Amino acid sequence: MRAGRWLIGVMVLGWLAACAGGPATPTWSADELRVLHSLSLDALKPLSPDPSNVVADNPTAAALGERIYFDTRFSGNGAVSCASCHMPERHFTDGRAFGVGMGTIPLNAMSLVGAAYSPWQTWNGKNDSQWSQALIPLENPLEHGGNRTLYAHLLAEHYRAEYEALFDPLPDLADSSRFPRNAGPVDSPAASAAWERMAPADRDAANRVFANLGKVLAAYERTIVPQPARFDRYVASLDADGRPQGEAVLSADEVAGLRIFMGKGQCMNCHNGPRFTNDAFHNTAIPGAPDVPIQRGRIDGVVRVQADPFNCLGAYSDADPDECTALRFMVTESDTLLGGMKTPTLRNVAETGPYMHTGQFATLAEVIQHYNSGGFAIQGHNELTPLALTDEEAAQLEAFLHTLTEEE
Ligand code: HEC
Ligand code: HEC
Repeated sequence: MRAGRWLIGVMVLGWLAACAGGPATPTWSADELRVLHSLSLDALKPLSPDPSNVVADNPTAAALGERIYFDTRFSGNGAVSCASCHMPERHFTDGRAFGVGMGTIPLNAMSLVGAAYSPWQTWNGKNDSQWSQALIPLENPLEHGGNRTLYAHLLAEHYRAEYEALFDPLPDLADSSRFPRNAGPVDSPAASAAWERMAPADRDAANRVFANLGKVLAAYERTIVPQPARFDRYVASLDADGRPQGEAVLSADEVAGLRIFMGKGQCMNCHNGPRFTNDAFHNTAIPGAPDVPIQRGRIDGVVRVQADPFNCLGAYSDADPDECTALRFMVTESDTLLGGMKTPTLRNVAETGPYMHTGQFATLAEVIQHYNSGGFAIQGHNELTPLALTDEEAAQLEAFLHTLTEEE
């Protein structure tokens, strides 16, 4: 009885001390504080150079790339640009489950914010650079729906001076028997037949112009880097003992959600670092979407990137072969490749739905419900385990994800 009263007395004193801002337990331990700083934008390093793209960090190239990025003339119907699916005002996504260009592509458009940091592009990583990635939508009949000689003609007509300030002069395109308006290895019988009829040297010249188009687009994409969010301001507000100073930046629920993100939720196994991604491929047992083919993920990506004539080791790359380390040392055989998708960034995630590679989930609540259940793999090996989060914890985790939105 007496011991009990003593204990209550100590607890009341402790509570009073905490209220008075006295020596209460720190909010975050030293280890946790280190982890928090590793997630903050302050930990984002400068972009590594891209030796495969000689104009990667050339501001003139970026300026040209930016103009072409928004230029709908660079499409088969004059109506599609990169911004059709990667809209700046939506953190470079489109708010749709599937991308819509000349047709509908049954894949979810990814955010381009910070994507230049990733050694692999797209959900299955079928490209090892942003310049080689850009060439895919340009030729896909469901996206831009153009072809290689069309883009060479468009560059000559609209951007000749800008292009020739950066690269060798464009080939002589006036002779339409050498450079037809529409020719390329695309899904159009007329354009692909015209491509086959071209002289190998002219095809090579068209390929080089096409690669250079990708390179200026990539130079622009490298300027799309994450901006500070409320979360970053919160980390900056923590003192050396892990206690927030000044006005509260995050609510108690958001802080609780952050703790779940770092601990019980196991989110940081894959969503880590200042972009909240490890840039690796994981099978998270995402269900298929109705009426669209099941994506096999990384197992197809490794085959595609090796076969890509525009990869780092290819003829149109500016890199020495020994600079292509990601491609040369990539994992090509593993039982984790089937169903593996690239971990997406979580920066701005509250505003980039629908979620997952085919937009399977409309809301963050559905995403968290999936992780909480542990999912059921339709193919390959499920890397998730059920989390047993309470409804309150799930809501707190969701509240935390909202703190990753850029403030400006
Ligand atoms: C019709 C919609 C659409 C258009 C137009 C489009 N994209 Fe995409 N983008 C997508 C989709 C869908 C994905 C995912 C593709 C995949 O996984 O294969 C994607 C993925 C990407 C990625 C990969 C990002 C990452 O983190 O891996 C980059 C980079 C990109 N697009 C850049 C561009 C550029 C540059 C253009 C213009 C030349 C463009 N996109 C045009 C829909 C589109
Ligand atoms: C084993 C690695 C792994 C773990 C653990 C993990 N994720 Fe993911 N996350 C991924 C991958 C991979 C995807 C994309 C999957 C796909 O589209 O098929 C993804 C997608 C997402 C998305 C959708 C983003 C978008 O742009 O579509 C959100 C949100 C998300 N994860 C949040 C979380 C949270 C919250 C946790 C912890 C509860 C978590 N993740 C744990 C790997 C992981």
